[in-house]
Amino acid sequence: MAFVALSARAQDTPAPAKMTAQQDHQQMMDQLHITSLRPGADGNHPQAPNAANYDEAKANPYPKLPDPLVLKNGKKVKSAKVWWSKRRPEIVEDFDREVYGRVPKVTPKVTWEVTGTTQENNGDVPVVVKKLVGHVDNSAYPAIAVNIDLTLTTPANASGPVPVIMEFGFVFPAGRRMPPPPAGSGPPWQQQVLAKGWGYAILIPGSVQADNGAGLTEGIIGLVNKGQPRKPDDWGALRAWAWGASRALDYFETDKAVDARRVGIEGLSRYGKAALVTMAYDQRFAIGFIASSGEGGAKLHRRNYGEIVENLAGSGEYHWMAGNFIKYGGPLNWNDLPVDSHELVALCAPRPVFISAGAFRGDAWVDAKGMFLAAAGAGPVYRLLGKKDLGTTEMPPIETALTDGEVAFRQHSGGHTAGPNWPTFLEWASRYLGGA
Ligand code: GCU
Repeated sequence: MAFVALSARAQDTPAPAKMTAQQDHQQMMDQLHITSLRPGADGNHPQAPNAANYDEAKANPYPKLPDPLVLKNGKKVKSAKVWWSKRRPEIVEDFDREVYGRVPKVTPKVTWEVTGTTQENNGDVPVVVKKLVGHVDNSAYPAIAVNIDLTLTTPANASGPVPVIMEFGFVFPAGRRMPPPPAGSGPPWQQQVLAKGWGYAILIPGSVQADNGAGLTEGIIGLVNKGQPRKPDDWGALRAWAWGASRALDYFETDKAVDARRVGIEGLSRYGKAALVTMAYDQRFAIGFIASSGEGGAKLHRRNYGEIVENLAGSGEYHWMAGNFIKYGGPLNWNDLPVDSHELVALCAPRPVFISAGAFRGDAWVDAKGMFLAAAGAGPVYRLLGKKDLGTTEMPPIETALTDGEVAFRQHSGGHTAGPNWPTFLEWASRYLGGA
């Protein structure tokens, strides 16, 4: 029974540390030797001293962005080779250390189990629905169990492997559901995807990592840390969710219904941030639909519009990020960040990425223009790699899609939703994913 000796047993292992988000946030501030933070922007009280800014004239205190094509040693990047071998790794290192945190060098193995397969119809399309659980090996710390919740739906009549769009799915508390889409918004996105002959998948982020600071000593982050609090450059929830998406893609590589070279990732809001992080870090993802991702996603950290760095640094959201990110809401400022979000978009290059936003009314908090500027700022990297960028640095009017190139942008006239941009995204995505 040698392996029993090697792997710990639940009853012999100490339980994970129990802390509230406030306590964990405080311990991280202590590790960083920070005693105070600036307040976040208040999006609810326009008269508050820290009311969110929505005045474009005040939105750009730091208009000069880090240059994605200048190396740390000051040399200009002039070839794809230098981008891949030198500059991209520099940018990844900065995002790892200061922004999203590092995924541990070794993460536990995930064993996928198909727990159910059913034949159903979605609309009038016959589909095969597979329920899956990704069991994460917890033999090193049995006090924490992580089981990744994934559902894969593919057209039953497909003649071969199909492209799949995977969404980070919201789970609503019992009795509550996603607000219904406005009248006239067409079929649900899943049916739009099926109409292309493609499949779709839903990954439940909370099954990988809880969406709060109290949960950081549990989930996949807590499992690897054996129930202890994070170090300042450890991964946050966004990278943990993205890690889960990568493990789902590992599974797709083994499922004959899926063409794993044509898998896209989509998410809204906090999951829009996660979708962008997924695309940026895992180059196997073919395409990304990044909806209303805002601060911590595609929005430039250097913009003062809607949500700002200080909100992310606070105890309600810091768990999305590396602990180190908190510094930029306290002793340091936005302009001290070694990278900005245009470089996160650039990490997706040359793969196609679609940045989506809603209108001012209902989606101002995410700063559509700040996300547009990040998409535009990634342009030089796409061009260096022989791809087409947005084609402009002027914010287009609402509902004017910029979809000529591999970086795409569209602001719809709805609110905080991906909904109205699905048809435009799918038409553009067809260029890359092709038919079934
Ligand atoms: C809050 C938060 C955003 C986040 C959003 C969401 O509004 O400030 O950063 O994107 O929640 O995920 O719904």
